[in-house]
Amino acid sequence: MVSKKIKIGNLAESRRKFAGNTNRFLDNDVPKYRFPSSMMEPRSAYQLIHDELNLDGNPGLNLATFVTTWMEPEADKLIMENLHKNFIDHFEYPQVEVIEERIVNIMANLYNVPENEDFVGTSTIGSSEAIMLGLLAHKWNWKEKRKKEGKSLDRPNIVFGGDTHVSWDKFARYFDVEPRVVPIAKDRYTITADDVRKNVDENTIAVGVVLGTTFTGEFDPVGEINDMLLELKKEEGLDIPIHVDAASAGFITPFHEPDFPWDFRLEQVKSINTSGHKYGLVYPGLGWLIFRNEKMLPEDLKFYVNYLGDEMPTYTLNFSEGSSMIVAQYYNIMRLGMDGYRSIVEKMMGNAHYLAGKIEKLAYFDILNDARHIPVVTFKMHGNESFDLFDLSYRLRERGWIVPAYSLPKNAEETTIMRVVVRENFTADMVDLFVSDVESAFKTLQVNSKKISGMSPRQGHAVS
Ligand SMILES: Cc1ncc(COP(=O)(O)O)c(C=O)c1O
Repeated sequence: MVSKKIKIGNLAESRRKFAGNTNRFLDNDVPKYRFPSSMMEPRSAYQLIHDELNLDGNPGLNLATFVTTWMEPEADKLIMENLHKNFIDHFEYPQVEVIEERIVNIMANLYNVPENEDFVGTSTIGSSEAIMLGLLAHKWNWKEKRKKEGKSLDRPNIVFGGDTHVSWDKFARYFDVEPRVVPIAKDRYTITADDVRKNVDENTIAVGVVLGTTFTGEFDPVGEINDMLLELKKEEGLDIPIHVDAASAGFITPFHEPDFPWDFRLEQVKSINTSGHKYGLVYPGLGWLIFRNEKMLPEDLKFYVNYLGDEMPTYTLNFSEGSSMIVAQYYNIMRLGMDGYRSIVEKMMGNAHYLAGKIEKLAYFDILNDARHIPVVTFKMHGNESFDLFDLSYRLRERGWIVPAYSLPKNAEETTIMRVVVRENFTADMVDLFVSDVESAFKTLQVNSKKISGMSPRQGHAVS
């Protein structure tokens, strides 16, 4: 999204002058904010854009993202072979739809859907779309139930924690549902069942539970929240569904902690989302949404269209969608199987624990999460320094590492933390290199901030 309009009047200044440029294919000025009036050679266009994109960070050193940055060459090949297929054209490309259906089955089984449930699911662009669609279905079900009971439809609410991803707030605002945000605490970065209990009532369309919070990678207590809601159902007749946001954990927990019940083994868990493009090990954008039973997906929300050759239902926010990532997910599942995913997950967990141990040994930091459930390590600064983690983050960027520093949500906002998402390519060797760079960046900041007396740390950093 572009928030600032570029003044076309300034075009002359904003033009890139290519005269004297080392790119031998270009000899024209190229406007950047207006359609160029004439064509250029493909090679020139390629080189122009390729060179500019060198300014982007190196995805291999991006420890900020959960999203996959590497796939096997065979997967890349399948992706290229299917790039030009619009997934929604089921009549034209029926086999991709068959593959999507197989993956929905595979995911529902992976999430332990009971034998007697007729699950249903869909691919999406990512977890955000999956969350919106899941919650929309719960809103609809709540509305239908209230209509039947002759009760007011005015004030639906959704209960989720201050530890959720922004997509939950987006859902509440875009779909006109009151967000009841259960607070985290100064020294507890997930929610509690007791606090959820205080917020639910007859107008609650669903409770959101996150497995692998974006901020610290921790888990909300899904079992306790399920038990509390079961008790509420028994005592007050309120049947409130849980939607589990397993954007990150959905491809970790089934392999790393298969006996930990977080999924459809819990009675109130009615829908689950995960991101194929996170630990599903596929490039962006791919998400999955699974409903425990097709009854959860109201008929009203399915649209039937026949203009692509056959009558077919759609339940997505977007109509067109690429086929490649669905195919790539299928490649990973076929290629790796349970053993392969398990082995990769265990390696990532091992590297994350190794990283947490090494960071702790530096004695500059307090570890907040040492990859308890998913391969994410978070830490805060231990002592008082005249610089902060934002400065450290900038320093590390000079070596190419992209590691975010940020403050925690409301109630814990005074705590600034750093988060490292360990992905497949962040090997133990890379951990050693990274930790050594953290140590030297930290020492440089200490020396610099001593040298520059009388200036605030941030000014000091800017001139150093
Ligand atoms: C817990 C959680 N939920 C939802 C999302 C949104 O996922 P996506 O980027 O796949 O839309 C994220 C993204 O990082 C996340 O961490």
